[in-house]
Amino acid sequence: MKISDINTKTLPKDFVWGVATSSYQIEGGFESGDRGRCIWDDFCDQPGAISDGTRGGIGIDHIKRFKEDIGIMELMGIDSYRFSFSWPRVQKGGSSDFNLKGLEFYDSLIDSLLEKNITPNATLYHWDLPSELQAAGGWTNPKTTDLFGEYAAFLAKRFGDRIKFWAPINEPWCVTYLGNTIGHHAPGLRDLTATVKVAHQLVRAHALAAQAIKANSDGAKVGPVLNLADQVFTGEITPEIENDLNLVSGMVNNWWLQGMLNGKYPENVLDNFEKLTGIRPNEDEIPDTKYGRDWVGLNYYNAQIFQAGEGLEIFPGTKYLGGAWLGDEKTDIGWPWTPEGIRKTLHIINDFSPNIPIYVTENGACYNTNLDSNGHVYDSKREAYLARYINEVVKAKNEGVNLKGYYSWSLLDNFEWAFGYEMRFGMVHVNYENYARTLKQSGHEYSNLIKRHKNGS
Ligand code: NOJ
Repeated sequence: MKISDINTKTLPKDFVWGVATSSYQIEGGFESGDRGRCIWDDFCDQPGAISDGTRGGIGIDHIKRFKEDIGIMELMGIDSYRFSFSWPRVQKGGSSDFNLKGLEFYDSLIDSLLEKNITPNATLYHWDLPSELQAAGGWTNPKTTDLFGEYAAFLAKRFGDRIKFWAPINEPWCVTYLGNTIGHHAPGLRDLTATVKVAHQLVRAHALAAQAIKANSDGAKVGPVLNLADQVFTGEITPEIENDLNLVSGMVNNWWLQGMLNGKYPENVLDNFEKLTGIRPNEDEIPDTKYGRDWVGLNYYNAQIFQAGEGLEIFPGTKYLGGAWLGDEKTDIGWPWTPEGIRKTLHIINDFSPNIPIYVTENGACYNTNLDSNGHVYDSKREAYLARYINEVVKAKNEGVNLKGYYSWSLLDNFEWAFGYEMRFGMVHVNYENYARTLKQSGHEYSNLIKRHKNGS
């Protein structure tokens, strides 16, 4: 299937077509002293932490080239740009003074987007925690949550006249488990007690930041951005396996949906956390959730596919799930294609909260295709992947899911966390020697889709 085969005629005219990035993965500007240090700078210093041995500090030089990047979005016909503020750029150290130079960068970025009629959709925390806060316990410490509320209030006051869409935290599941259970992400811990504390603080931080944003900006719409997923088991499902699958979906889906939208935690996860660590997070400590449920963002790449065998460390407390990221067709990072899963997961959200507006805030594929001898990038696999997934997204909308938009990850090739620069997710190719940008075939096709939808053809 090709992107040009997708029929978008059933989508409303104001359906939002976007692209997404994040601060640490693209900005750079650390070496020049423009921002404070963050946990990813520290993580990159640990030998072996980043598989290709690169460091994220320079990003892809977006801080200097953001106008060029906005020009590419304009050319593509992008409606909305999802980006994140770098906390250590806005506020070195994560507390006290705000950094004028950093704030001026975001002023220029936002103003340039608006000049081109591109709607900003801002995330406050996409994993670059100031190192000083980590030294004081990071997200295990409720003080970080309080400081996050202050940072959110400040950003809303300063930029709320121009930004209406806000997401406090990107993918809290990844922050919690990849960062604190298996140490694959910064801060690189393997600590179940920290895991449980972080899972609780992030729910609190979402609610607190949402309240702060609403108090400081009229008309702000605040929602969580979650990497929810459907769980698939390849063999016969015994009652024990079913319990484990429910526990996995509790940790991956319900903890965040229930916690952030309704201030309630799933019992099976609470029991599991208590069994593993003796800690049972207290729902009464979650601030009022009514400010942070204007919309839900879904980041989706693949289903979680399990088979019998050894338990997966990444889902603590599950015994019968073995596993792997199984599947026939896989992207270059090893993740399987499960296009029907994005539709199923959109239904999970819609069933949980039937009227809530939903955006796919990330979806995309890693293919490391390079320039050919004519300077073109024919990333036909990415194009085919996007075609299948976007087609399922359109189906979900046709089936009644309250879907408002779709953002592709990513606009640009960038620093793919523990995989370094080796894994490319962009619709725009970046040459890591001179930072030249080249729109790939998938980007051209995505742009044609957007233009076709706007023309009604
Ligand atoms: C999830 C994250 O939000 C983003 O930072 C990452 O690069 C992509 N998905 C791909 O892994």
